[in-house]
Amino acid sequence: MMRGYPHGVSVLTVDLDGERMGVTIGSLVSLSLEPPLVGVSIGKDASSYELLRRSGSFAVSLLAEDQDALAQHFARGVPPIAHWTGIATREGELGPPLIDGAVGWLECRIWAAYDAGDHTLFVGEVLRAARDESKQPLVYIESSYRPL
Ligand SMILES: Cc1cc2nc3c(=O)[nH]c(=O)nc-3n(C[C@H](O)[C@H](O)[C@H](O)COP(=O)(O)O)c2cc1C
Repeated sequence: MMRGYPHGVSVLTVDLDGERMGVTIGSLVSLSLEPPLVGVSIGKDASSYELLRRSGSFAVSLLAEDQDALAQHFARGVPPIAHWTGIATREGELGPPLIDGAVGWLECRIWAAYDAGDHTLFVGEVLRAARDESKQPLVYIESSYRPL
């Protein structure tokens, strides 16, 4: 059912003392305005899971329609040594890197974490948000990436 329902595609990034990971996610959801909260559901087996849990913060780069290769890269389980090769990023305020060319960026502190079966639902308090209004988002549906 959910495969046929469109989701925006983002890359969640984490940084713990310079150790950085990114993972492609479709689970980003807006939860609250006051305070500003978003949710992301992350698999307990994901290679960035422990880093995320321990670091206490994350960033989300909401991908643009021409960034499907980046989405594939961060969904592939790339070994840490090749993780950031050729990926243009800039520094966020909280630590996790922000991916260049995205439609928008959120920087969050983990506000709560809820057990969700084989995933954990992390609720992030949005401390910074920015948008590039010239870009259009990337959508994932029926196992393929499409423009809006
Ligand atoms: C479009 C798309 C959306 C995804 N959404 C999520 C998600 O919301 N949460 C998650 O834990 N994994 C999600 N994944 C899977 C991860 O990107 C990744 O493939 C998985 O964590 C295995 O890689 P790893 O071993 O490097 O963690 C998604 C994959 C794709 C292609």
